[in-house]
Amino acid sequence: MATDTPASARLSPQSSASFTHLEDLLTQREQAGRYRRRLTLDSPQGPHVSLAGQAADAEARPLLNFTANDYLGLANHPALVEAGCRAAREFGVGSGSAHLVNGHQRAHHQLEARLAELTGRPRALLFSTGFMANLGVIDALASASREAGRSLEIFHDRLNHASLLDGARLASSGTTAVRSRRFHHRDLEDLERQLTRSRADDKLVISDGVFSMDGDCADIAGLSQACARHGAWLMIDDAHGLGVLGEHGEGLVGRATPLADVPVLVGTLGKALGSSGAFVAGSDALIESLIQLARPYIYTTAQPPHVAAATLAALEIVAREPQRREQLQARVQQFREGCTHLLAGSGLALGLSSTDREASSAALTPIQPLILGSEARALAWSAALRERGVLVSAIRPPTVPAGSSRLRFTFSAEHTAEDIAVLLDALEAVLAAEKAQPRSASPTISPEGVTP
Ligand SMILES: Cc1ncc(COP(=O)(O)O)c(C=O)c1O
Repeated sequence: MATDTPASARLSPQSSASFTHLEDLLTQREQAGRYRRRLTLDSPQGPHVSLAGQAADAEARPLLNFTANDYLGLANHPALVEAGCRAAREFGVGSGSAHLVNGHQRAHHQLEARLAELTGRPRALLFSTGFMANLGVIDALASASREAGRSLEIFHDRLNHASLLDGARLASSGTTAVRSRRFHHRDLEDLERQLTRSRADDKLVISDGVFSMDGDCADIAGLSQACARHGAWLMIDDAHGLGVLGEHGEGLVGRATPLADVPVLVGTLGKALGSSGAFVAGSDALIESLIQLARPYIYTTAQPPHVAAATLAALEIVAREPQRREQLQARVQQFREGCTHLLAGSGLALGLSSTDREASSAALTPIQPLILGSEARALAWSAALRERGVLVSAIRPPTVPAGSSRLRFTFSAEHTAEDIAVLLDALEAVLAAEKAQPRSASPTISPEGVTP
């Protein structure tokens, strides 16, 4: 055999070249039904969407969309589009630098003031994304504790959003002064036990407001009472409550919840508000500390000013058109009632479990999960619904715990009663088709399942 191959190239793939394991990883993901694929939209976000690159056949018709977080139907609202265009003409499309250099524009400043007012907090600080806001605030609080020579323990609901969990991971890496632990989902007794055991100087309890994959709500009063008993701070990420819940769209936590009960409030602007970005609201001391310490705030280009201008227009609609929230609730109610009827006797139900759901849903939220169990089943249902013109995401591990793969239906104020009826008919057909399958037939994994 020829021996003129360089020694480096003759080594086994594992030892000679970096990252040869990527192909294996992708294959394993595919085989486990956990491969994620993107859709390419060729239309604005809305109750009906078109996908790019489809032939002029039946598939090319717009799909009825139950996958977006555009709960109030504002992502393509003319008032937001117009406000964004006007601001782009006046201020350009790029902010040009970080907030702390000279990228902080008038529109950002006005937006911060409006968000503070909406949530009843002294101050708000704008971040470019919700993911960055969560990383930023947790890391900044951890840095402050470390600088003061104090230990910090972070307590997470185990179903918190990935950005919150990653924030704690980042904050606790490479130090023993910061520890992070999880309590059972919405389990105040478990939290109480953990807080009682904690010897940390500073304690931070963190929870989603509306849980992003389950649609149930945190018990804000219960969490804040537990925090008060143990001298802990409570941080709530109200990404999916803002704009949707509360009398004025202020979210699950808002003016009615005093600052002392929820000292750290995060909201995102890319969901019900239809634009992009996020904010942290709280005391003057919190906001000034974030400006000094939050690296994802300090070391990044400020959000384009026209996006902030569009968000200001969204806030006006949130204040002026409470009927959007009512319309959304009516659609969610219609779906839940239809589903309850449809799923009776099927062994399936909406939400984590009906009792948990009743207990936790102070209000109907626009996130309604149907837990199906396996990855393959969730993908098969998503694909079958898509064949019937309905777009809904199959959510699988690691986004949700193993064995709880699901369809995550999300609703918009722009959905009509007819849209919901079409969805229920499609679901009924998919359920019937599955029932008609021989028992041994396991659902096939289709690459067309809509996945996050
Ligand atoms: C609860 C929660 N927090 C934070 C985020 C991240 O927000 P953003 O999309 O603005 O990064 C999301 C969703 O994406 C979320 O569901």
